[in-house]
Amino acid sequence: MSIAEIKSDPSSRVETGLVEFDRVLSGGLTKGSMILIGGPPGIGKSTLLLQVAERLASQNKKILYVTGEESQQQVHLRAGRLGLNSPSLYIYPEINLEAIENQAAALDVDTLIVDSIQTLFKPGLSPAPGSVTQVRECASDLFRLCKTRGITTILVGHVTKDGSLAGPRVLEHIVDTVLSFEGEGFQSFRLLKAIKNRFGNTHEIGIFEMSEKGLKGISNPSEFFLSQRSSLAPGAVIVPVMEGSRPVLVELQALVTRSAYGIPARRASGFDLNRLQVLLAVLERRGRLPLAGADVYLNVAGGMSVDEPAADLGILIAVASAAVDRPVDSETVIIGEIGLAGEIRAVAAIERRLAEAARLGFKFAILPAYNMHKGLNVPEGITAIEVENIKEALKKSLPGDHRGKEI
Ligand code: TYD
Ligand code: MG
Repeated sequence: MSIAEIKSDPSSRVETGLVEFDRVLSGGLTKGSMILIGGPPGIGKSTLLLQVAERLASQNKKILYVTGEESQQQVHLRAGRLGLNSPSLYIYPEINLEAIENQAAALDVDTLIVDSIQTLFKPGLSPAPGSVTQVRECASDLFRLCKTRGITTILVGHVTKDGSLAGPRVLEHIVDTVLSFEGEGFQSFRLLKAIKNRFGNTHEIGIFEMSEKGLKGISNPSEFFLSQRSSLAPGAVIVPVMEGSRPVLVELQALVTRSAYGIPARRASGFDLNRLQVLLAVLERRGRLPLAGADVYLNVAGGMSVDEPAADLGILIAVASAAVDRPVDSETVIIGEIGLAGEIRAVAAIERRLAEAARLGFKFAILPAYNMHKGLNVPEGITAIEVENIKEALKKSLPGDHRGKEI
């Protein structure tokens, strides 16, 4: 067919109504697509999918939820906790692939959820469930069913210790979409990310909180991440980072202590350690702050992770603030990428970052002068403090300098 003649069907997307889930899928589930969702045990995959199933069932869709890991009663117990009981949501404890295919066809379901792909077995194949052969064969058979009958299919996949999806790599090639559900050990919040998506982009992130009554979408992540902040101690800095197209304010915390051993320690959680080393070298050399005899610890509060160059300057100021033991002004956010010469480089999407800072009541923003030169519109309520290099940034960010007070 000529590409000009092919029509796409906009009605083929189904919004589940779980906003954060739909966001990651670029607007909802695509009818007849196959999605793989991976994550460590206990992160909430089954909970999330049960909630998705309920939302779909309440739109008069027929859902078959195959549970290979838990009994019907266990799922029912969880459903009770979540307050779910749609008659068109079917719970099916089964691991035999053929039985599942027959049941899905017999019920003529709209959506099939398989929890998890590692528990299924295809009769006639000798390896045990969870083996490479079984997982690959079951997934490709389900893919065929999904495409021929137009059944939207969601598979749960286990992950190995290093966080990658267990089983054959081809699993990721077979499915249309791969999602990863992540969270930090003791934190209640969870991130849902798209790693691959044949029906949309992969840069949006869904943010959830695990509560007594299941997963709740967090529509105001900045407020959530800053909620435990009282006043800023030395070493703490607020930076606006972009999570997909959304700006989120996060708190960076640095601790600098005198090194007790020969080789100073550098530790980072939620941030790339190599990048921290580079920034420390720049701070030492261009900012003239001696750190050779100091241990440096950096932490992103709330268990978030930050991997944007736009957070460079914030990190550097956090370390400097901890090193000289003077707090950064609590109504200031810091934005800027750092070059090896100590220059502060322009940052993308700066207006959205500033708007978020203004919305949360911040009053000052230390930002790259270069962004200002390019005609930046600073939102109302924010005073921009331009900086060109590290030295200038250090001078302007440490106590009350820009408010006219002496350091
Ligand atoms: P679960 O969905 O079983 O995780 P997974 O399928 O990824 O292994 O849920 C994991 C945890 O979530 C479990 O330890 C209990 C907790 N939880 C809540 O805190 N609130 C709830 O409403 C539910 C259903 C679970
Ligand atoms: Mg589970």
